[in-house]
Amino acid sequence: MIATAVHPRLMRVGGGAVAELADVLKTFGLRRPLVVTDPFMVSSGLVRRCLDPLEAAGIAADVFSDTVPEPTDTVVEAGVARLEGRGYDCLIGFGGGSPIDTAKAMAILAHGRAAGAGQRMRDFKVPVAADAAGLPVIAVPTTAGTGSEATRFTVITDTETDEKMLIAGLGALPLAAIVDYQLTFSVPQRTTADTGIDSLTHALEAYVSKRANPHADSLALSAMHLIGRHLRPAYHQPDNAMAREAMMLGAMQAGLAFSNSSVALVHGMSRPIGAHFHVPHGLSNAMLLPAVTEFGLNDALPRYAEAARAMGVATREDSDSLAGSRLLEELRALNQELGVPTPKDYGIGDNRWEGLLPLMAKQALASGSPANNPRVPTEAEIIELYRRVYA
Ligand SMILES: [Fe+2]
Repeated sequence: MIATAVHPRLMRVGGGAVAELADVLKTFGLRRPLVVTDPFMVSSGLVRRCLDPLEAAGIAADVFSDTVPEPTDTVVEAGVARLEGRGYDCLIGFGGGSPIDTAKAMAILAHGRAAGAGQRMRDFKVPVAADAAGLPVIAVPTTAGTGSEATRFTVITDTETDEKMLIAGLGALPLAAIVDYQLTFSVPQRTTADTGIDSLTHALEAYVSKRANPHADSLALSAMHLIGRHLRPAYHQPDNAMAREAMMLGAMQAGLAFSNSSVALVHGMSRPIGAHFHVPHGLSNAMLLPAVTEFGLNDALPRYAEAARAMGVATREDSDSLAGSRLLEELRALNQELGVPTPKDYGIGDNRWEGLLPLMAKQALASGSPANNPRVPTEAEIIELYRRVYA
């Protein structure tokens, strides 16, 4: 088979790497950045970790801090309006997945608007190839993580239809990423859990995907090895540097893995939950992960078994079927330990849930992600899975 591998052109990885941000910009001859971040990064002062090294190097940076969790097309449009006439030559996405995804989408929409007036974010959703960007993005994640710093994807909500749109292409691939685990020490416990399970889901789905390939496999296995051993310590001990470092590397590798393979049914079903009920992305993945894994287990048993071994919950001596059941046990235990609620416990009423299931199933299928799953579900099977995880 022939696989296409895409990675950011430069990745600077390690504790303290954010101090070298100006050096990374200078490597590419960039001098006029707009920092895209969220209000908490500004109010907490964390944005200084990004601005101080720029100022010290004589680089004047402006800040756009209006990004929201689960980013929307209206925020992206406001960001693009902010670019006009100011001569920025790059965007720095600083924060969790949402500011980074917003920066990527701004770069894509800015290019589209320059080419033809009146374009909207929805003009770039899959299956359109969003390969062009108006200006380069340097991604600096502060969570471990969505892996957005390493992927050719951004997810933006269409505020008119409540659809979480998947936008894919080289236009969404950052030019550079700075991956500094020291930025994650202050991440709240809930976010550590949600983003950590998101990254585990990326690695597992990339590995069992119909689009898996040897290059992505190696990254996915390494990511599962790291996340399987370090997610619990990072959750329980926020200052555990070894766990934070391992989770940051694992999240990055998981991002690279699914960017070069794909996500699958968990992500396909997760986006509609996020769009309709405003459940954070990693948390809606976590709600689905055990049941969706069980659904496809026997269609890719050797792969799921190898994933269990990589995570350290099964051994070489275990049969594939034993390793597969260990994987299911581990995913359920992880949700229990990390306090993942069911949709019902999250406060979603059963009438609204049930009423939206046909639309959610259609939207899940339309995203294309379920077609990469080892077992490709029908619309009725997706509805049944949504029912199974509800209570
Ligand atoms: Fe994800």
